[in-house]
This record gives sequence, structure tokens and C-alpha cells, in this order.
Amino acid sequence: MRMRHKPNLTKRIAECEGLLFESPEGFKGDWRKALKYEKMALEIGCGKGAFTCDIAEANPDVLFIALEKVPDAMVTAMERVRDREIKNVFFIDRDAANINDMFDTDEVDIIYINFCDPWPKSRDAKFRLTAPSFLRSYADILPIGGEIRFKTDNLPLFEWSIGQFKAEGWALKDTTNDLHASGISDFMTDYEIKFMQQGVPINRLTAVRRDETFTRKAGTPERLRNASLSDARGNAK
Ligand SMILES: C[S@@+](CC[C@H](N)C(=O)[O-])C[C@H]1O[C@@H](n2cnc3c(N)ncnc32)[C@H](O)[C@@H]1O
Repeated sequence: MRMRHKPNLTKRIAECEGLLFESPEGFKGDWRKALKYEKMALEIGCGKGAFTCDIAEANPDVLFIALEKVPDAMVTAMERVRDREIKNVFFIDRDAANINDMFDTDEVDIIYINFCDPWPKSRDAKFRLTAPSFLRSYADILPIGGEIRFKTDNLPLFEWSIGQFKAEGWALKDTTNDLHASGISDFMTDYEIKFMQQGVPINRLTAVRRDETFTRKAGTPERLRNASLSDARGNAK
């Protein structure tokens, strides 16, 4: 089925000249040199970009690449970056399943995954952005010590993801089930702002790549563990 886009999408993207990389595969291995930055962060599923703008504005020395597979959401993020005159953010309209086509070994210092879709059905577990195949793709582009910072409102997804990170050999730190318990303590995403207003606690962890972390390159067979989200809570489904 062909996806229908909002009217004016092409025009709105064109009006954000220079912010969208149409052929990001051509930059693989060359992002920092081409754009003249020493540190580089990748945000997966940036949505409308509240987090993207705030974190990039606060870290002008870091190159932020925001990847999003739905251009109708991404164009709002692009307009925000343009209107706020933020210079260190660029956008990619791609599926995260293809990141190894765009980023090389050790190329990215830090990956942000905020409020990704939980895909609650077992048969869809492979689409969760913390499924083993994704974690291995991330391990291939992060150096040893490189980090994934992950936030979600969804506790079953969070617990399931912890299991995947551990089984894939990542070290975990800064884990909390109530990130804002003592006030706002992070850059907030659009979804996060809504959840905060509803009083929903936010889960957050940082996963650190280690020597023994499984990579896609190493080719170890991967296994999707406990695909059901309820399993992660210990409830039978
Ligand atoms: C629930 S929204 C959260 C948006 C934003 N991070 C926030 O917290 O406000 C999840 C976003 O991730 C994007 N997304 C989901 N899976 C993706 C994938 N495989 N590749 C790229 N983007 C993806 C969706 O299109 C959507 O915009």
C-alpha cells in the first residue's frame, strides 16, 4: 500500500534547504570529516524533534543526525531546527533497519532512542528498536564505550529491552523507572512532555558497548528472547 503524505510535504521539506541528506549512504565513514565535527550523535525515530532541538542547541560542538522513517513527522522537526537556527542537526529519512548502510564501524559516539513503538504482539517483536538485530547494528557503528540512551513510558518494553541488552553483552547504567521523580532531569521529547502531563513515569537506561557485545559483523546467530512483552513482567500471556 502506498503511504499518503500530508499536502505540501515536498514543499515544506524543500523550504528547509540543506537539512535533509537525500543520499546518506554516500557519507558512510565520512560524516565527521565532511561536516567538520569531532563528536557525533544519532537519534533514531526523532518524530517532531523537541528533544533533537533542545539537546543539539545545548551541545553545539556535537553533530546530531536525526533519523526518521515517517517524513510527515520529520518535517516538523526540520522546521523547528530551521526556525531556531540550529546549525548542528541534519536529517535522514530512512528506516533504522538500514543504519549499517549509512554509518561505519566506530563512527557514532552515542545513539538516542526515545519512546519507540512497543510492537506489543510477539510476532512483531523483531520490529522493536531494542530487538537483538537492531542492537547488533548499533554495536557495529559504536566504539567500545559508546552509548545507547533509551527512554520509554512502556514498562513491559523497558523490562524486555533490559533482557535483550544483557543477553547481547551490553553493560547497563543510569537505570531508573522514574526519570523525573525529583523534577525534570533531561531533555524532553514531544511524547515525554505528553506523558509527564498525564503523570506517567518515564523509564531510562544507558547501555554501554563492551568488547564482548554481540555485533552483526561477528555473525553469531541471534535469537529473539521472550518475544511477548507480558513475559518480561512475569505474567503469562
Ligand atoms: C512514538 S514516536 C516517538 C517520537 C519521538 N522520539 C518522541 O519521543 O517524541 C516513534 C517514532 O519513531 C519512528 N520510528 C519507528 N520505527 C522506526 C524505524 N525502524 N526507523 C526509523 N524511525 C522509526 C516513528 O516513525 C515515530 O516517529
